[in-house]
Amino acid sequence: MKTVNIGLIGAGDISLLHAEAIRRCQGAQLLGLWNKTDGLAEEKSKLFGCKKYASAEALLADPALDAVFVLTALEAHQQYTLMALQAGKPVLVEKPVGRSVAEIESMQQAAKQAGVLCMPGHNYIYEAGVMRAKELMEEGKLGDLVSIYVLYNIHHPEAVAARYPGVIRHIMTHHAYIMLYLAGRPTRLSAMKSVIHYEQITQEDLAMVTLQLENGGLAHFCASFAADDHAGDPWTMMIKIIGTKGATRFSYRDWVENKPATVHSQTYAAYPYSIYQEVEYFVHRCLGQRAAPLSSLDDAIIAQKIIDAAERSAAEQRHIDLI
Ligand SMILES: NC(=O)c1ccc[n+]([C@@H]2O[C@H](COP(=O)([O-])OP(=O)(O)OC[C@H]3O[C@@H](n4cnc5c(N)ncnc54)[C@H](O)[C@@H]3O)[C@@H](O)[C@H]2O)c1
Repeated sequence: MKTVNIGLIGAGDISLLHAEAIRRCQGAQLLGLWNKTDGLAEEKSKLFGCKKYASAEALLADPALDAVFVLTALEAHQQYTLMALQAGKPVLVEKPVGRSVAEIESMQQAAKQAGVLCMPGHNYIYEAGVMRAKELMEEGKLGDLVSIYVLYNIHHPEAVAARYPGVIRHIMTHHAYIMLYLAGRPTRLSAMKSVIHYEQITQEDLAMVTLQLENGGLAHFCASFAADDHAGDPWTMMIKIIGTKGATRFSYRDWVENKPATVHSQTYAAYPYSIYQEVEYFVHRCLGQRAAPLSSLDDAIIAQKIIDAAERSAAEQRHIDLI
C-alpha cells in the first residue's frame, strides 16, 4: 500500500492526539497542516515535523495529499469538510460533526457527490473492548438488552470549557453514538442539566439523560465537567451494558498513569488509544480496504437529533419523542 499522506485543518489541542495517531499508523504520514492563527500553525508544524500551508485552499490544492482531518472548532467543521470533499479528499471530521442535522446532511450530500469517504470522529467505539461488547451483543451472548449506561465525570477548568459548547453537545455526542453502536436507536428521552462549578459560563457543566430504546430497554447518560470521580470503582468514563443473559463494561480506569494529561487530572490511556485506533481504522480499513466506518454520517445525524432533543427536553422540562 502506498503511503497515505494526511493534512490537518485546525491544529488545536486535539491535533496532538491525531498527529501521534498518524505517527503510530504504519503506512500513514502527516504531510502538513493549516491553522487559522499562524502562531499555532508555526508551533505545531515544528512540533510535528510537517509542512505549514499558507491557507486551507493551499493545503487542499496539494496533489500529494491523500486525506484530510478537520479538527477545527465545531463552527468551522462544515465549511472545511465541504471544501475538502469538493477537492476530492477523503475526510475524518471531529465530533460533533456539525452544529445541526442540516449541516451534517450537507456533508453527507457532498461526500456522495464527490464519491469520497467522510468519516465522523466517533473515536470511543474504536477501542477493542467496545468492539468486543458489540460482538457479544450481536451474537446474542448477553441476551436481550436491559440497560446501557454511559457515564463521564471529568473535571474541566472553566477557561477550557469556554472553548466548547455545553456538555450535552460537546460530551454527550460521544454517549449518543456509543449507544447507537451498541444498543440501537432510542424512541424518546428526558433530560436535566445544571451549572455546578462555572462562574462565568451559563451553559451546563452537568447533564443526565434517560432514553427508552426500541426494544423497551433503557439507556442512561451522564456527562459532567463539574467534578472528577476518584472514589473506588470510579465512574470517570464508563460504559456498562446489562442484558438478560450477561453483562459487560468498558472503563477508562482500567489504564491509568499518575500524571495529568492536558486538562485531565490523571492520564487515562484509553482516551488517546481510542484516537490511535480510529485513525488506524480510517487509514487501513476504510481507505485501504474500502470498509465502512464503524459509525457513519447517518449515525452522526441520529446522534445530532438525540443531542437536539436532549437540549430541548432540558429547556422545556418534558419528555421528547424521537420517532
Ligand atoms: N474526539 C474527542 O475525544 C475530542 C476531544 C476534544 C475535542 N474534540 C473536538 O475537536 C475539535 C477541536 O477541539 P480542540 O480541543 O482541539 O479545540 P481548540 O480550541 O484547542 O482548537 C480549535 C482550533 O480551531 C481553530 N478555529 C476556530 N475557529 C475557526 C474557524 N472559524 N475557522 C478555522 N479554524 C478555526 C482554532 O484556531 C484552533 O486551532 C472540536 O470539534 C472538539 O469537539 C474531540
